[in-house]
Amino acid sequence: MNLGKLGQAQAARGIFDLVQNDLEQVEKKISAESVASVDAVTAIGRYLQSAGGKRLRPALLLMSAKLVGHGNAGPSAIQMAAVVELLHAATLVHDDVIDAAETRRGRPSSNVKWGNHTCVLAGDWLYMQAFQIALRERNFLILDLLIGLTQMMVEGELLQLERIGRIDITEADCMELVDRKTARLFSVCARLGAVSAHSDAQAQEKLGEFAWNLGMAFQLIDDVLDFTARENVLGKPVGGDLREGKVTLPLVYALESATPAERRLVETVLEQRNYQRVPFAQILALVERYDGIDRVRERAQTFTERARQVMSEFPESAYQRALMAVTDLVTERDH
Ligand code: IPE
Ligand code: IPE
Ligand code: MG
Ligand code: MG
Repeated sequence: MNLGKLGQAQAARGIFDLVQNDLEQVEKKISAESVASVDAVTAIGRYLQSAGGKRLRPALLLMSAKLVGHGNAGPSAIQMAAVVELLHAATLVHDDVIDAAETRRGRPSSNVKWGNHTCVLAGDWLYMQAFQIALRERNFLILDLLIGLTQMMVEGELLQLERIGRIDITEADCMELVDRKTARLFSVCARLGAVSAHSDAQAQEKLGEFAWNLGMAFQLIDDVLDFTARENVLGKPVGGDLREGKVTLPLVYALESATPAERRLVETVLEQRNYQRVPFAQILALVERYDGIDRVRERAQTFTERARQVMSEFPESAYQRALMAVTDLVTERDH
């Protein structure tokens, strides 16, 4: 299904409308919980929160809670939605230090404004704050999910570091990072939604599988957008992955068929870490010549199809329809 830009915006509004009031409570919760005894930490939390962001993870958690909770999202769901957004924020603060990023959510990234040292510590504080809120639920399953997830994500960032600057990246390498960086968090969001609604283990498992597939598609499209998006829409620089030394799936596919001279172009950017000798347009042309973008879009579609298949096993409801529709938003988004 192709919704087009306007249809996509309307669909997004419709889906988010279902959890709008809850998301407002989540924002209040995040604001109230992001106050540290040291001003810099509070400022970084506020800076990131006020810059926007799609709030996809808390929305997914809330919709999952409402899907199995007959339209209700209790205080636990609100708390846990704040937890996953704080955890996401912590990963972004650390990630921007690691990647020496300059822009995040359309603004100078926090590492640029506060420096690496402060951001490492602020990220630590945000992680711990997320866990402290989660601890209030007095539920070991929740802590188990969050700790396992955080370790998976940190290992993912470490694996990515080890692979920086390497051209011999495989499809399996890419998929592993997509899983660790994004899909696992999406999966945990949906499962936490189900846990907060006291649903049975089978529904938790199914919601987790739905969201894992959604997250795989989301990150694959993120890798595509790094080649195809407009910077002012994306809120971070286009072509940033390769400039940071990361060979992602669209390029892996193109490199399978590229000539030695074309391979050399990619190696040059990986060595130089800028687009001065080889302009980004040349890399984009190379990726498009060998269908790298289309092939990754197709891979993303197979994940959203599986997500819809899993979701179709839940009883029909407004939340089930919304979660079905989220799959199209993920593959058709432009930021
Ligand atoms: C950014 O996630 C990090 C990735 C996993 C690609 P989002 O694209 O959801 O970022 P925000 O929260 O909307 O800024
Ligand atoms: C996103 O990783 C951060 C995590 C999910 C840990 P990336 O470095 O690939 O994402 P962006 O492009 O900075 O958002
Ligand atoms: Mg990054
Ligand atoms: Mg990174």
